Amino acid sequence: MLAEIEKIVRLSGKNVRESVDFTVTDKGTRENLVTSADIENEKFLKKELLELIPGSVFKGEEGDDVPVAKEGYTWIVDPIDGTTNFSRGIPEVGISVALMKDAQPYIGVVYNPFTDSMYTAQIGEGAFKNGKPIRVSNRSFEDGIFFTAWCAYDKRLSAPCFEVSERLHPRCNDIRRIGTAAVELCMLAEGAAEMYFEIRLCPWDFAAASVVLFEAGGHICSFGGPLDYDNPCPVIAGNSPKNLMSVANVVVDVFDGKRPY
Ligand code: IPD
Ligand code: CA
Ligand code: CA
Repeated sequence: MLAEIEKIVRLSGKNVRESVDFTVTDKGTRENLVTSADIENEKFLKKELLELIPGSVFKGEEGDDVPVAKEGYTWIVDPIDGTTNFSRGIPEVGISVALMKDAQPYIGVVYNPFTDSMYTAQIGEGAFKNGKPIRVSNRSFEDGIFFTAWCAYDKRLSAPCFEVSERLHPRCNDIRRIGTAAVELCMLAEGAAEMYFEIRLCPWDFAAASVVLFEAGGHICSFGGPLDYDNPCPVIAGNSPKNLMSVANVVVDVFDGKRPY
């Protein structure tokens, strides 16, 4: 199954990499973009993945947001994670495909077609990048790289997110913002970075990468609880429980213990 999904995602990546004459529009706020390539790729993935598992449910960012099925298989798909990057020719993009089984994460595939980086994982079977096993790093918080973002699509949440950065930056090595949550979480899984926080991600941003991260020995959760694969939620991750908690404590403090939405 994983090999079949990988084949489909690779094909979709070729389409994305080769699309040049795409159109760009916004989805309500001027920062939140969608291109014709996002829409075409979701259509392609939907057709291929539903054919691969007849009777499965398809949840996707571009017009296919449905609940995850309590029983059986559900796909959670972001056809292009990092659309702003894509629309400007910045080669940091992830095609993100998760397969849920009975509402639990089961398989995750994240592919950057521009760098040809293929991250794959299945629960209980380990995590891989281009076929080689990957593992989170064992760096301390002080030596850690912190991936974060400042809620570009809802600037009302930017100020507290900057406060989280301001409080953590002096305590760790540095901060990075790549612009694709799916790839950033996979980079944690391969040991390139150590901590992660975003106040609002959608299930298609993190579902596939969460499987890769679990299987690489990483830790990921929401605001005081598990990830919600049906609704937008805060996401905090770390290479170790200790590093995750160091981020979580600051996030909870900055937001006064309350989720802001
Ligand atoms: C976005 C990217 C970005 C993250 C945003 C996401 P999109 O997804 O993952 O890194 O900061 O929260 O919405 O819109 O490019 O699919
Ligand atoms: Ca996304
Ligand atoms: Ca997207």
